[in-house]
Amino acid sequence: MYTTEILEKNHKNIMRMTAVVKKMCVGIIEGKEVDVEDFVAFCDFASSYGDQYHHMKEENFLFPEMIAKLKGHAEMMIEKGMLVDHNLGRAHIMSLRNALNDYQEEPTSYNKLLILTQAMGYVDVLESHILKENNVLFPYANKDLPESSQTMLDEMTKSFEKRMEDQGVIKKYLYILEKLENKYQ
Ligand SMILES: [Fe+2]
Ligand SMILES: [Fe+2]
Repeated sequence: MYTTEILEKNHKNIMRMTAVVKKMCVGIIEGKEVDVEDFVAFCDFASSYGDQYHHMKEENFLFPEMIAKLKGHAEMMIEKGMLVDHNLGRAHIMSLRNALNDYQEEPTSYNKLLILTQAMGYVDVLESHILKENNVLFPYANKDLPESSQTMLDEMTKSFEKRMEDQGVIKKYLYILEKLENKYQ
């Protein structure tokens, strides 16, 4: 299904970002200064690309269709697993933004620790979440969703992708990702 192909493509970019974040955190442990601006860029990527662009398609297109058509196991996996992970990720980003503000006001070791904790919390949640979607949830959707559902989802995804492309959203965040990747090679 085109929809899950696009979602998996998004996952690759989110994983590229989590790889960068791990390098940023390790750098701090090894004595580098906290680059608040880079962490803010990561938060913006997580909120805009991760949430408003990627999770939006899962939460508004794929998940409701899977719950409606497959019920039972799919419903449990989505409600008790996937949506919980999305919310945990959001909570980590919110706390990370707070930790960054606190660190700017008071650059203490404790506030630095909070930055590392929340950034790595997000990485941990999202990386295992993506594996579950790629290896369990998406193959399930591709195999068991009726043809009509798959066609409808693909149409919705295509028009959403076009809108995001026209608004320059995808390009903007891939540029931010590339810039951070180059800096933290
Ligand atoms: Fe997800
Ligand atoms: Fe996802």
